[in-house]
Amino acid sequence: MCGIVGYIGTKKASPILINGLIRLEYRGYDSAGISTIEKDGLSIMKDKGRVNNLYNLPGIDDLEGTIGIAHTRWATHGKPSKENSHPHMDNSKAFSVVHNGIIENYNELKKFLTDNGYTFYSQTDTEVIPNLIHYYYEKDNTNDDNKFLKAVKNACLDLKGSFALEVICKDFPENMIVVRKDSPLVIGKGNGENYVSSDIPAILSFTKDFYLLNDLEFVILSKNDAKFYDKDLNMIEKETKTIEWNASSAEKDGFEDFMLKEIYEQPTAIRETIGSKLNENSKCEFDELNFTKEYLNSINKIYIIACGTAMHAGLVAKNVMEKLCKIQTEVDIASEFRYREPLVDKNTLSIFISQSGETADTIAALKLCKEKGAKTIAISNVIGSSITREAHYSIYTHAGPEIAVASTKAYTSQVVLLTLLAIYFAEILGNSKDIIENLKKDILDLPKKVDETLKDSEIIKNFAKKVYQEHDIFFLGRGIDETVARESALKLKEISYIHADSYPAGELKHGPIALIEKDITVIGIMTDPKLVDKTVSNIQEVISRGAKTLIVTNQKIDSKMFDLVIKIPETNAFISPILSVIPLQLFAYYISKEKGLDVDKPRNLAKSVTVE
Ligand code: G6P
Repeated sequence: MCGIVGYIGTKKASPILINGLIRLEYRGYDSAGISTIEKDGLSIMKDKGRVNNLYNLPGIDDLEGTIGIAHTRWATHGKPSKENSHPHMDNSKAFSVVHNGIIENYNELKKFLTDNGYTFYSQTDTEVIPNLIHYYYEKDNTNDDNKFLKAVKNACLDLKGSFALEVICKDFPENMIVVRKDSPLVIGKGNGENYVSSDIPAILSFTKDFYLLNDLEFVILSKNDAKFYDKDLNMIEKETKTIEWNASSAEKDGFEDFMLKEIYEQPTAIRETIGSKLNENSKCEFDELNFTKEYLNSINKIYIIACGTAMHAGLVAKNVMEKLCKIQTEVDIASEFRYREPLVDKNTLSIFISQSGETADTIAALKLCKEKGAKTIAISNVIGSSITREAHYSIYTHAGPEIAVASTKAYTSQVVLLTLLAIYFAEILGNSKDIIENLKKDILDLPKKVDETLKDSEIIKNFAKKVYQEHDIFFLGRGIDETVARESALKLKEISYIHADSYPAGELKHGPIALIEKDITVIGIMTDPKLVDKTVSNIQEVISRGAKTLIVTNQKIDSKMFDLVIKIPETNAFISPILSVIPLQLFAYYISKEKGLDVDKPRNLAKSVTVE
């Protein structure tokens, strides 16, 4: 977690850095700080809390430096405080560093440095880095131009763990050094200036041309140049990649919050994700994969692995994969999968879903599958993200930048893409032709139906007004609807801090029904014609115990039984989650608004979890 930004050019760095930090605040907002090179040396300004506190610090407008680094923190080592805020300096105040990641061997390094006379002023793992750089810098008796680079490189080779670093040095006022290992970092190429950021959207308004770094590639940035080196400091060539995202898509466009904007962007996100992969009268195309029937027949199991909402998209896809492709499909949480010696071999196909493409546990699970000989496919929303560089194959959702911490449009786009993938496999295998034909039509109709579903927002807002003060809300569903219950409960807890739980409706009477008491709110999702009567019976069980009920359905049910019924358009059961989740995304959103909370940046969370 944590967000970092850097600027080197001819303009005042501080406003550019603060602007970038505001856009990266979703990655953590425990503290913020910047360091620039001023006429009299390195300057550091930092404070606990949000970027706004930094912005309001007296003297921040007086910074004149045209080179600087900046950081917004999600605390891992050491509480949120000014001392623990980045940037951190070495004892001699020659180097200033910002860091995203975790240094696993920092205790050992701290002891080594303490034994060598260094003092530490924070509880962070990061503070060892500038001091270690200083240690190597002082040890080097040469005076060559690469002295700064060599010191950073030597320090980095001692670090265990993950890091994206920006380093500036008072002796090299024209340069910034950046490097990454297992943490995200991109370089934006401007005209006579260069930018650094943890992600692309934060600097998209300045440039569309990016350099993407691999692990342990070092870069010396100057205002007109970027020089790249491998870990042995051999120079390497790098091409820029042009990113087609529109800068305004990373802005709020008149919506009150990013989350609301992103909910309303779902028709476009889904349309773009379907893209050229699907036409009604032709086969589903995934040119990136080129799989053969022989290969697909050799697969013994598909694993879908992810975290959070992305994992919930996997749960939806399990159904369609198994039904269309007749291949056993397991869905796993990345942080669990890694540590339970999964049965993976060369005949396993493993699919990893990650909106950001930077989630540490998902990337580690992918590496494990590769080691065991499995083929790996990454599904990400971010071109060139770390996971896409690790996987054998990468396919993309085209949801555009998702800024709100609670994922909405990325989830529905992931479900669409996974469904298309299942169709692609099934068509190669020659399976399920009749189902596929109708499913394709329903997928192509989705953007229009999502638009229709979004029209119900006022009714949901009013229901949210009635229940926003509750302490517990339950979500029930069966089959595919149960996966939506999980995702909706997660959405609600993330942004409203209400305890929300989801259960398979049929499991209710095996324990959870003991929690149902008068006036508690229960939300039922019913889209599968085969299961609707059963779910209605389960909901009746809670109504008879006094629960208030909100139902999301596309089936004909007796509306009078329930407090509120939200009707959504009918569609194929495989993809009904894409429609049924939308009213519940809005429900979570409006509850959070009623409670006056920060919807886009809920407490304790971060959008991209780049630590394990
Ligand atoms: C965090 C976010 C979730 C997200 C999960 C996985 O927990 O708060 O919204 O679903 O990470 O992120 P990824 O980028 O891998 O999809």
